[in-house]
Amino acid sequence: MYKQTEILSDDQARNALDADEGRHEHALIISLVEGFAERYQNRMNTAMEDGQFRAECAAVKKSVNTMKERGDTIVLTENGIPSGMANIKKIEQQNHERDVWEIIRISVLRDARGRHYGSRLVRAAVDAIRKKDANADILIGTSDLAIAKICDRLGFQGIPIERYYQITKGDMTPYLKEIEQARVYAKDFLLPAGQDLPS
Ligand SMILES: CC(C)(COP(=O)(O)OP(=O)(O)OC[C@H]1O[C@@H](n2cnc3c(N)ncnc32)[C@H](O)[C@@H]1OP(=O)(O)O)[C@@H](O)C(=O)NCCC(=O)NCCS
Repeated sequence: MYKQTEILSDDQARNALDADEGRHEHALIISLVEGFAERYQNRMNTAMEDGQFRAECAAVKKSVNTMKERGDTIVLTENGIPSGMANIKKIEQQNHERDVWEIIRISVLRDARGRHYGSRLVRAAVDAIRKKDANADILIGTSDLAIAKICDRLGFQGIPIERYYQITKGDMTPYLKEIEQARVYAKDFLLPAGQDLPS
């Protein structure tokens, strides 16, 4: 069946998520958290150790707790229903030659996956950032392989996890343990200012 899709940003995106007492936002947050939980389960028998799991859980918890204070939101609707979201926020800590914005919390409802909505959300997020700050580099940090594939295809450069932490958290000394724990599963990407996305 033909599915009509639309990308919403700013107030329109906010209103779509808040509709039905926030039911759509909750569904997308659950989708996001489940993504982390599944990655944990997949790694439980392989590389992820207890400390890594705790680090990942802490990151998710913080992310969910700060949902309401998040930066701008992009929403993709399918037949009018919010089916995917991504947030963009300017990085306060920098240690970098240009402004940096990060795309975070990329999430697509399970039933809507595999239709390139994730990719469209990242594209829309890049466009939204470029409109706000044309000279900014754009960062994505993830432990998700589908996001990594999307980033590769869109021409993002893989960057070392140390660099990611340096940009997002400044002095890395307090985070050395966290970096070591995250190293086996994190993938970090940067899209330089001025680099166009492939059409
Ligand atoms: C990540 C996510 C947003 C992708 O959404 P999507 O709309 O299905 O993604 P797309 O259709 O744009 O493309 C994803 C690509 O990755 C591939 N992919 C999906 N799962 C994968 C996996 N586990 N390993 C490798 N590649 C994978 C898809 O097949 C597709 O590639 P293809 O075009 O060659 O078939 C979605 O899976 C999701 O919401 N996950 C849970 C939330 C989450 O963990 N978010 C990451 C937070 S950083």
